[in-house]
Amino acid sequence: MTIIVCPKCSKKHRADTSRIVAKKKFLVRCKACEHKFVVNLDNSDAVQPVTPSQPEVQTPSVVQTSGTKTPRKICVTLSKGGVGKTTTAVNLSAGLAMSGFKVLLIDTDTQGQSSFLLGIRPAAGLTELLTGELPPKETIIKARPNLDLLSGGRSLAGAKRIIDKKSFGSEWTLSEALEKVDKDYDFVIIDTSPGWDQLTVNVLLYADEILTPVSLEVLSLHGLAEFTKNLHAIKKYKEIDLKYVLPTFLDTRVEQPKDIYRKLQGIYGDKVCTPIRYDEELSKIPSHGKTIFEFRPDGDAAADYGALVRRIARNKNLLLG
Ligand SMILES: Nc1ncnc2c1ncn2[C@@H]1O[C@H](COP(=O)(O)OP(=O)(O)OP(=O)(O)O)[C@@H](O)[C@H]1O
Ligand SMILES: [Mg+2]
Repeated sequence: MTIIVCPKCSKKHRADTSRIVAKKKFLVRCKACEHKFVVNLDNSDAVQPVTPSQPEVQTPSVVQTSGTKTPRKICVTLSKGGVGKTTTAVNLSAGLAMSGFKVLLIDTDTQGQSSFLLGIRPAAGLTELLTGELPPKETIIKARPNLDLLSGGRSLAGAKRIIDKKSFGSEWTLSEALEKVDKDYDFVIIDTSPGWDQLTVNVLLYADEILTPVSLEVLSLHGLAEFTKNLHAIKKYKEIDLKYVLPTFLDTRVEQPKDIYRKLQGIYGDKVCTPIRYDEELSKIPSHGKTIFEFRPDGDAAADYGALVRRIARNKNLLLG
């Protein structure tokens, strides 16, 4: 047992951290004043051991919002457009689901292309979850075996306005909404829109790991450098890592993409994944509503995305399907 003291209202809360902590650092919400704060068990003024003379505390009074058995939350993001974010989010999710993991794919883009790529037209999605118009379970649809989808789309523009108008805690809106639904999954994969807005900040505060697809051209390298600068602002509030840099659109016949790939390796080292080659089949799949594993399972793109799935699952021998 540990006593956690809310830095805002000073309320003392009793928490069984031995049971809830997979990580040393985790996010909690004070039930008395609703304030959210990060607790670092190794080094935090907010944590005190329980002593026999400890005054009465409200029990149980902190809600752990991360740190127990939670899914791995990976956002696929880069401010630059057209680098393969949606293609990656969808095919990575599909590959993980085919390997037996329970996956929730979340589309946070007003373009709503994840559902399009999967060949579905959902009646509801992330907007209704964020606005509370529908019960959480009714906002998620089954896209494939083991793969659920919380779709994006034009209506998200309205949800963004609601987030923007909140006077307090707007940046945690997505985390709070997903808290109710994400516990059933092994992986939550989030596709983001190009650019950087309030919803991007919400996604980064929710996710734990970042995967950035980088098309192998000079402008994308600049985009990645800009993005890592913006990420520093988020890191003040929570732990989040740029874990995977995924080179995309590799055309092996041309020298420049290979040079850029080597540059990426020089800067980002082990974070750089095996590239996704340029493959026309990938540009065809949107009009078929199929994943690359369904559309061309023996092609280059399925092999490349298969390698990504194994890397993310940390299992070189993982069988897809
Ligand atoms: N490796 C590839 N080879 C060929 N075409 C690809 C490849 N990856 C993606 N594409 C195609 O490139 C286009 C852009 O890809 P995608 O929509 O995944 O990018 P995005 O980063 O999500 O774009 P946006 O920033 O607009 O959301 C799509 O038409 C897609 O089918
Ligand atoms: Mg996209």
